[in-house]
Amino acid sequence: MPRMVLDDAPARGGSFIMAANTRHYLLVSLKEAQGNWVSGEELSRKLGITRTAIWKQACSLRNEGYIIDSSTRKGYLLREALDRLLPAEIEASLRSKRLGHRIVFEKEVDSTNRLARDLAIAGAVEGTLVVAESQTGGRGRRGRSWFSPPGEGICLSLILRPRFQPAEAPKMTLLAGVALAETLIPIVPSRVTIKWPNDVLAGGKKVAGILIEIATEIDNIDYMIVGVGLNVNTPLESFPEELRKRATSLAVETGCPVRRVEILGAFVERFERYYDLLGREGFGPVIQRWRELSDMAGRRVRVHSFNGSLEGTIAGIDDDGVLLLTGADGAVERVISGDVEYI
Ligand code: BTN
Repeated sequence: MPRMVLDDAPARGGSFIMAANTRHYLLVSLKEAQGNWVSGEELSRKLGITRTAIWKQACSLRNEGYIIDSSTRKGYLLREALDRLLPAEIEASLRSKRLGHRIVFEKEVDSTNRLARDLAIAGAVEGTLVVAESQTGGRGRRGRSWFSPPGEGICLSLILRPRFQPAEAPKMTLLAGVALAETLIPIVPSRVTIKWPNDVLAGGKKVAGILIEIATEIDNIDYMIVGVGLNVNTPLESFPEELRKRATSLAVETGCPVRRVEILGAFVERFERYYDLLGREGFGPVIQRWRELSDMAGRRVRVHSFNGSLEGTIAGIDDDGVLLLTGADGAVERVISGDVEYI
């Protein structure tokens, strides 16, 4: 089976798949108490399990990083949850109907796209969401790396099994860009735009990138991995020197720390809406929204592709998401893949 963009590095650490379970309901109950004590007896009644089982689940939540006080007299009290992408937190933030209902979480992994690919090969269902707190070998487009320090960003990969031709796959990059930009617009005061093909910018600097990888079977897609990297709480000075002029984070743009888990949930939900819309109505509504969210038309650019560089003015993108570039002679060139540099 042909695969595109492969990487055979081994996985690190143990992964686990979360379903709705007692631990999740314990967490929900403790959250509902909003910083007040809840007695073991009440929890045991509510969750239908013994007080010993409650105690075990509270220990397990502590192991995930929650700070939970316990007292034989008063019961349990959840102190403020830290901004960690803990699986139970992710699950609680998800409002999507199908996508993300199976979560694979790693504290550290080489690349969530690589892990997602392995899971897809092993038969993971459509909608499986792979999330990591940090990546040691985060992959960007065209062989670049993606800066993924622990606890500061969102690194996720969604496994999809779309029923369309491999040639349509690049459209999913644009779809993910639309969903991501719409997720960020209510949070960021500076203008959020999309830059073809896979960048989301805030205030003109890159805040997120998308990396789609597919495996094909004759003329079908066997699986597709939609990888998203979003800079959330990274201070400007923490970015590698060479990125500082071009990169930004939500915290830099808003001036304060941003809780990641809600953004993650909002993105998955919005992505699902566009993905379903694509299935029902085709690419039209996505491309229309993409055009509204991009400010590329009319800009002078240099496009770097595997065949070399081209200069021109962006005329727009066509209905299939192909970039249209007007050269000095007025001829319009169709660019299927490449990197765009504003000049
Ligand atoms: C780019 O702009 O070049 C694409 C960056 C994509 C980065 C994300 S982070 C989660 C997922 N796992 C990876 O290894 N890469 C993508």
